[in-house]
Amino acid sequence: MNVQTPTRVESQLTDKGYVPVYTTAVVEQPWDSYTPEDHEVWKILYARQQEVLKGRASDEFLRTQREMGMSPDQIPKFQDINKLLMDATGWQLIGVEGLLPELDFFEHLANRRFPVTWWIRRMDQLDYLSEPDLFHDLFGHVPLLMNPVFANYMAAYGRGGVKAHGIAEAARAAATTVVDGVEHFDEAKALSLGSDALTNLTRLYWYTVEFGLIRQADGLRIYGSGIVSSKGESIYSLESDAPNRIGFNLERIMRTKYRIDTYQKTYFVIDSYEQLMEATFPDFTPIYQRLAAEDAIPAGNVLSSDVVFNEGTGEGWLTDGDV
Ligand SMILES: [Fe+2]
Repeated sequence: MNVQTPTRVESQLTDKGYVPVYTTAVVEQPWDSYTPEDHEVWKILYARQQEVLKGRASDEFLRTQREMGMSPDQIPKFQDINKLLMDATGWQLIGVEGLLPELDFFEHLANRRFPVTWWIRRMDQLDYLSEPDLFHDLFGHVPLLMNPVFANYMAAYGRGGVKAHGIAEAARAAATTVVDGVEHFDEAKALSLGSDALTNLTRLYWYTVEFGLIRQADGLRIYGSGIVSSKGESIYSLESDAPNRIGFNLERIMRTKYRIDTYQKTYFVIDSYEQLMEATFPDFTPIYQRLAAEDAIPAGNVLSSDVVFNEGTGEGWLTDGDV
């Protein structure tokens, strides 16, 4: 098999700037084409994170990681992991070229398919990469898919995403009128009908699946994939005085902006994975409509209603750049 390179189809202007758009096709993991450097990158990152995660990752992350038994020395094969996942929770990994459009991503999750970027970062990108690669997706996201409650949460999130996408589209359509061939868009009306539903829902994913903390009997631990796959943020999120650490609150999170370019200013703490799952039981439609009337909360703010584990000193925070 020839060495493959990711196929970047085009760039798309979003509220986060230009983002790469990849083909949405599911690709077979080209395992035989990984280079010795690819495997070495996996090996170095794996060993480094194993050290960092001791006493920092949640007991459940470490348990599911052991149960899954990913190879520390070479890039695991998706097909091997899929056998274990199917038996445990019915999830399957699918290979993709990179970030997917939202609706494609939600539909995969709703059907218990987790998209994993097939390529891994280069040796000169060990510490930072601006987009998900195989290490982030596989090492960070996949172990907890062995946990039935977390696995159900991810599927429920996917179903919620499909629904939110529909709500947002319908809201925009209902707020659009054509008079004498000229299109008029009533933004206030669109918002009141839920055109920001995806923004609200994306914040939930960000502050739980990607950057969540959990409270164990012996203290706070990390489970979010964006943290467990990052040496620097594994330490910062738990041990730095700079960020806020605040108790999980669904609607509060849905209103909270976040950072994509630096460590988070605020981390939200769950008590259990059951708490996450239960948060998805209500219909979010009236929540989206209610939140439309409220301002978004800057990433670093602490509210009087928050359950505060740590009120951040704010050291090192940039004043702009919340999205
Ligand atoms: Fe991720």
